[in-house]
Amino acid sequence: MSRFLFLQSWLLIFCLAFSTCLAGPAPWVIRISCGSRVNVRTLPTNTLWYKDFAYTGGIPTNSTAKVYVAPPLKTLRYFPLSEGPNNCYNIKKVPRGRYSVRVFFGLVAHHDPDPNFDNEPLFDISVEGTQIYSLQSGWSNHEDQVFTEAQVFLTDGTASICFHSTGHGDPAILSIEILEVADRAYYFGPEWGEGVILRTVTRLSCGNGKSKFDVDYSGDRWGGDRLWSRMTTFGQSSDKAISTENSIKKASNAPNFYPEALYQTALVSTDSQLDLAYTMDVDPHKNYSIWLHFAEIDVSVTDVGQRIFDILINGDVIFDEVDITKMSGDRYTALVLNTTVPVNGRTLTITLNPKEGSHAIINAIEVFEVITAEPKTLLEEVRALQALKSALGLPLRFGWNGDPCVPQQHPWSGADCQFDRTSSKWVIDGLGLDNQGLSGFLPNDISGLHHLQSINLSTNNILGAIPSSLGTITSLEVLDLSYNFFNGSIPDSIGQLTSVRRLNLNGNSLSGRVPAALGERLLHGASFNFTDNAGLCGMPGLPTCGPHLSAGAKIGIAFGASVAFLLMVICLMCWWKRRQNILRAQQIAARGAPYAKARIQTAHDIQMTRHHNHGYARTAAENGPSLLS
Ligand SMILES: *[C@@H]1O[C@H](CO)[C@@H](O)[C@H](O)[C@H]1NC(C)=O
Ligand SMILES: *[C@@H]1O[C@H](CO)[C@@H](O)[C@H](O)[C@H]1NC(C)=O
Ligand SMILES: *[C@@H]1O[C@H](CO)[C@@H](O)[C@H](O)[C@H]1NC(C)=O
Ligand SMILES: *[C@@H]1O[C@H](CO)[C@@H](O)[C@H](O)[C@H]1NC(C)=O
Ligand SMILES: *[C@@H]1O[C@H](CO)[C@@H](O)[C@H](O)[C@H]1NC(C)=O
Ligand SMILES: *[C@@H]1O[C@H](CO)[C@@H](O)[C@H](O)[C@H]1NC(C)=O
Repeated sequence: MSRFLFLQSWLLIFCLAFSTCLAGPAPWVIRISCGSRVNVRTLPTNTLWYKDFAYTGGIPTNSTAKVYVAPPLKTLRYFPLSEGPNNCYNIKKVPRGRYSVRVFFGLVAHHDPDPNFDNEPLFDISVEGTQIYSLQSGWSNHEDQVFTEAQVFLTDGTASICFHSTGHGDPAILSIEILEVADRAYYFGPEWGEGVILRTVTRLSCGNGKSKFDVDYSGDRWGGDRLWSRMTTFGQSSDKAISTENSIKKASNAPNFYPEALYQTALVSTDSQLDLAYTMDVDPHKNYSIWLHFAEIDVSVTDVGQRIFDILINGDVIFDEVDITKMSGDRYTALVLNTTVPVNGRTLTITLNPKEGSHAIINAIEVFEVITAEPKTLLEEVRALQALKSALGLPLRFGWNGDPCVPQQHPWSGADCQFDRTSSKWVIDGLGLDNQGLSGFLPNDISGLHHLQSINLSTNNILGAIPSSLGTITSLEVLDLSYNFFNGSIPDSIGQLTSVRRLNLNGNSLSGRVPAALGERLLHGASFNFTDNAGLCGMPGLPTCGPHLSAGAKIGIAFGASVAFLLMVICLMCWWKRRQNILRAQQIAARGAPYAKARIQTAHDIQMTRHHNHGYARTAAENGPSLLS
């Protein structure tokens, strides 16, 4: 008995291990419940949503539960305009790969009785700098518009998902999902690649009365947990829903891993003369990738040749004489056809046109907008702008989040962008942050903006030195730092800016000599303003500076001056001593009459002997006072 149990448990362990091996590695998945302070699990699938993180700003609040298919989450995060027009979730450490990125939108709960209060915000969404979607008014009343979803390649270890205000309410986000899918998911041909994003426009399960996610169908996790919206009829009573309980072969195959249940329902035309047609609204002048799903599940069709139809898109035959049983190999077997078409109008119509005697059938439809990923801004320039943002203490309202130049509809305010053909990236060619109440200082990192042609930081409260690294931005033509609190001297490197046409440094606290090389620019018609500073010199219109001396010359002059000073001191001392002696002698001579007479007498005697003994007389004269006292 015990031995039997032992065997059984080993068998169990073996089976578990074997089934995990069979399932292969799990896809990389992250789900965020925006605005939530705790991790959340949702029923019935026990899905884990991480508490809110990786956002650039915004305010967490409660969400209203108006939305039908959205995950049952209670909180959201919204981004008022005071926090800037661009806000993002920057998720790090995302392994390189292809991902399905999905964002559910939120509705901010409000207790305002004003019926005109519009809490349905309209805004734009970008992924990795490429705009993928603009919300349409009325979105909150359509279950397939309460989220946006796109398949993207994430190659640089981050996922940056940004929300851009368009002046119609504050962007509000309920949840973010980043779900890894197979590397070649939805491969549609040679144009497919890392630079291509597929945004889901629609995904319909035909003949199904209930919208479901892959997870509700127990679909493979590598499928990206797609939402299949219900589609009970295309209208005009031209079709009817059918279904089967039979299992379907070849459904959950790589790279797309469709759930089997998708092929167990279908719409069939009611009359053999009738087309099955589905029309949807689309944005014009775009390419669409269309995926059509079939399986022969109608009991009345038993063999090859009994159901044949053409497939037309906007009137053009794309697939002719489709015979599902023949092409898939059997009945109850999945067949997936895909095509990519340009659409210039505002509608996209898929028509199944049955051949004589047969009826059309379809199980599911997927339509994607093909979006070319935008090139991003040169990384070095992004870093330089971020350094500038923190050094200047840029206010939140600037919204310097995400990529500075893309999406092109929403660049950072104050940064002018230009496409650089050599690097195939965007670069910054102008910085206009004049009169913005900025303080802080100008960092050396500004030289990372190699392509700048113009900088205007006029009329702010910027302190400290002008960074000498500015001199390395050789393309700089206009530099306006006027009306700030820049101090110290103008770095010599500024003289190396050979392209500079306008240099406004007036209204600062600069001092010292203006780099001489700037004088040459003046000859070439450049215009400079150095007025209203603490003491600049050496340009026309400014005071001339003192003679310009080398360090050696300065030492020489200092040495000479000290020697001269010493000599002067010595001379002074000699003169003073001599003068003291004379004074003393005179004082003694003047003291009392006998002494005075004696002194006069002596002096006379001395005078008398001088001619005879010169040496003595001199000694007497010099030592007079001491001899006499
Ligand atoms: C959100 O809802 C919770 C209860 O579910 C409540 O305690 C909290 O005050 C609400 N917060 C806001 C900002 O309305
Ligand atoms: C989509 O169709 C193209 C041909 O048009 C084909 O090369 C490709 O394999 C198909 N993709 C999938 C995933 O079946
Ligand atoms: C659609 O695809 C074609 C062929 O790949 C391409 O030349 C064209 O630029 C695309 N159109 C749009 C709007 O992306
Ligand atoms: C810089 O901005 C100021 C104030 O906003 C403006 O007066 C000045 O002309 C600008 N400088 C240049 C060189 O354009
Ligand atoms: C310039 O101003 C800064 C900050 O106000 C100060 O720390 C620095 O010493 C000043 N430098 C000069 C050369 O005056
Ligand atoms: C230079 O700046 C001063 C104020 O600092 C201004 O009064 C003057 O007009 C400016 N000169 C030129 C040529 O722009």
